[in-house]
Amino acid sequence: MKATSQPKTMYSKDSPQTIQSMFDSIAEGYDRTNFVLSLSLHRRWNRSLVNAVKARAPGPFLVDLCAGTGDIAFDYLNNITTAGHAVLIDFSPKMLDLAKKKALTPSLSRHQIEFIESDVQQLPLRDNLADCATIAYGIRNVKEPIRCIEETLRVLKPGGCLGILELTRPHSRLLSWGHRIYMKMLSPFIGKMIADNPDAYHYLTNSIQAFASPDELAAMMRSVGFTDVQSTPLFGGIATIILGQKPKEPTP
Ligand SMILES: C[S@@+](CC[C@H](N)C(=O)[O-])C[C@H]1O[C@@H](n2cnc3c(N)ncnc32)[C@H](O)[C@@H]1O
Repeated sequence: MKATSQPKTMYSKDSPQTIQSMFDSIAEGYDRTNFVLSLSLHRRWNRSLVNAVKARAPGPFLVDLCAGTGDIAFDYLNNITTAGHAVLIDFSPKMLDLAKKKALTPSLSRHQIEFIESDVQQLPLRDNLADCATIAYGIRNVKEPIRCIEETLRVLKPGGCLGILELTRPHSRLLSWGHRIYMKMLSPFIGKMIADNPDAYHYLTNSIQAFASPDELAAMMRSVGFTDVQSTPLFGGIATIILGQKPKEPTP
């Protein structure tokens, strides 16, 4: 008799529950997989994001959305001279558990760090709270990204800065072709070897192709009221940082 193959797990951002359980399932190997898949480039990109938001809004209070295991928030805190405050928000309890463990590092002990398990489309935070907000590699998994961006505008102080870092489609045809092959061939393999969930990495690869372009994300930011919106492609557009500012004066 012919062996039947296992049914593929269906991950879809139309069903946030499936995305949440997917991230729970890959949480343990997430940092290692990220390191291998990005050839460690993500560290440089993360630092660029942190430096960019700090340069625009130098205050000590960060809200990190889709925070995962906390790398962005901890990088931010490790690079400010005063005592900082970071709120890490994510709907995957397993990702946040790993972030909580990392937060015990002595270098972070002078900072206030909070963890909130929540969907980023509705933030359980008051208005005009944070100096900076970041979303790294997360927004493409959110069902309605514009709701998340709008909520972020609400919780930022006037003059505060949002920085989005997302994996994007490279500009040059050659790089785009190489990138697609790399992601299609290697990521499910690495997903199997390290995270034991090739379907998750299949979803994550496809989601880059299916998601909004940097220009579309920038347009979303402007449409909810962000100003001075600026995109910076990284490594030929394999990733992009998009920054925007909450206006100092309320828009009439
Ligand atoms: C690819 S990871 C990125 C983690 C981290 N920002 C980093 O730099 O490594 C995406 C994270 O977004 C979270 N996430 C996705 N959609 C979300 C949503 N709607 N609400 C809250 N968290 C979400 C996932 O649980 C996951 O931890």
